[in-house]
Amino acid sequence: MEHYFTNNENLKSKPRTIRYTYNSTNFEFISDNGVFSKNKIDYGSILLVETYLKNKKNITNFLDVGCGYGFISIVLSKILNTKAVGIDINKRALNLAIQNAQLNKVDVSYKESNIYENISQKYDLIITNPPIRAGKQVVLTILKDAKNYLKPDGEIWAVIRKDGGVKSIIKELSTTYQIEIKEKSKGFYIFLAKNN
Ligand SMILES: C[S@@+](CC[C@H](N)C(=O)[O-])C[C@H]1O[C@@H](n2cnc3c(N)ncnc32)[C@H](O)[C@@H]1O
Repeated sequence: MEHYFTNNENLKSKPRTIRYTYNSTNFEFISDNGVFSKNKIDYGSILLVETYLKNKKNITNFLDVGCGYGFISIVLSKILNTKAVGIDINKRALNLAIQNAQLNKVDVSYKESNIYENISQKYDLIITNPPIRAGKQVVLTILKDAKNYLKPDGEIWAVIRKDGGVKSIIKELSTTYQIEIKEKSKGFYIFLAKNN
């Protein structure tokens, strides 16, 4: 079965442009077949970005895990005027993210990385709309191992749907982190995880 994280080089390319405005800042994203939420920005990703921006702290860098075509990293980098790194395993999504960073004039670099495999730095913020379709173990690894890539006061912000198993995931994370649910809308939960 094809998933949004499968690298299928035979899938015909059909680029399209998606627009998003935050306050009065306009963004444009090139999307394509074979990537997550190819026709419109995912509601959960928008809720995550806008909830984070209501609660933002001073940060100097952040990491977007499972960055797709770059929506979360590009909007936050522009609004917060902050450097960022985005990682994914979908090569087509990464190529789009690189183009989208140029298009929106932000300082975000993108690289292929299966979870944190190619990451060695530490960040003030790790933010993710994780790949629920990849299974609970992948999602838990992204969230639990995030603490190894966080600065001492760093924060993890994530969006997960109720039917993506958010309650059991939060329960499992509670042994590692202090968790705060920051927003709930249309079945999407936005939560913050910090070191205990
Ligand atoms: C729910 S999508 C979110 C995409 C993007 N952040 C957005 O908001 O539109 C999850 C992303 O995780 C990526 N992914 C899946 N498995 C991964 C893994 N093992 N390591 C890194 N990224 C992965 C998928 O390719 C997909 O782009």
